[in-house]
Amino acid sequence: MSTPELYNLKTELLHAIAEASDLDKLEEVRIAALGKKGRISELMQALGALPPDERKAYGQVVNSLKTSVGEALEARRQELSREVTAERLAHERADVTLPVREGPLAEGRIHPVSQVSDEISEIFADLGFSIAEGPDIETDFNNFAALNIPPEHPARQDHDTFYFPPGPDGTRALLRTHTSPVQIRAMLKTKPPLRIIAPGRVYRSDSDQTHTPMFHQVEGLVIDEETHLGHLKWVLEEFCKAFFEIPEVKMRFRASYFPFTEPSMEVDIGYARQGDAIRIGEGDEWLEILGCGMVHPNLLKNVGLDPERYQGFAFGLGIDRIAMLKYGMPDLRAFFAGDLRWLRHYGFPPLAIPTLAAGLS
Ligand code: PHE
Repeated sequence: MSTPELYNLKTELLHAIAEASDLDKLEEVRIAALGKKGRISELMQALGALPPDERKAYGQVVNSLKTSVGEALEARRQELSREVTAERLAHERADVTLPVREGPLAEGRIHPVSQVSDEISEIFADLGFSIAEGPDIETDFNNFAALNIPPEHPARQDHDTFYFPPGPDGTRALLRTHTSPVQIRAMLKTKPPLRIIAPGRVYRSDSDQTHTPMFHQVEGLVIDEETHLGHLKWVLEEFCKAFFEIPEVKMRFRASYFPFTEPSMEVDIGYARQGDAIRIGEGDEWLEILGCGMVHPNLLKNVGLDPERYQGFAFGLGIDRIAMLKYGMPDLRAFFAGDLRWLRHYGFPPLAIPTLAAGLS
């Protein structure tokens, strides 16, 4: 192609680009010029057949043609895209007053155990407790030995423990049978004063209408220099009133035994059954909801704290049980059956975040 011909081709293509009235037409122009069989592409391919001395000069001209056309295409493309956007902005309107379409946020449900855990955390946070955590797989030391339950101790039989096979050092890891090992972890990690709760899963090899091999507890621990039984009682009463959202609760503190507390108590809560409904704080039926007591001096020794100086209380509360009581769910096993119909009925909307200010439930 001679130089004037090339010049004409350039003028022709630039004109076509300027004339292209939308992005589709512009794309047609691009393909006709730079596509596989486009006119500039063909010129480029023909270069190979030229004698080397001509190829260099001619090649430069064709290349600059290619560059100019490419730049013109891009400039026009941007221009047309802006027009398309401007056009859409001018015509599309969003009616922000329309109700939001039902999405996952409206359809999904929070499991009652999660909801109740959040309610419990909210109440204790308000009382100045912070949240501590521990793993589900624990050492014998944290789950038993440090809690004043040495290997030969009969209390081990009360915990139907799931053990792992022994490791190289002969010790067996286990699935924690209660949240109490978090007491040990917390005391080893933080110096008193200490005020924590630790919600989580626990495991016991036990299964019937009121027991599942996995269930939930929340541990509470306060360690300082002057906390006494009266504080424990007050905290638990305040908790129950806030949790069940009633001005007075009926609570029964029964003397009991745990290796890690002295003295120890179990706490029952009074309720009445009225047909299917359960009324907390009335009637004369009792349900055990927690174990508690003053931290045994041996625990403090086991974590290197001076029992002459420090003391405190601990409690362990069954989350599933108080969830059943509060929300009238009759069967514990349904909690873990994964039945969507159950979850839709008893679950909570994801945005119903419990706060003391707005009401817990
Ligand atoms: N860990 C005990 C249990 O699971 C409960 C408990 C915790 C009792 C803390 C006293 C103090 O039965």
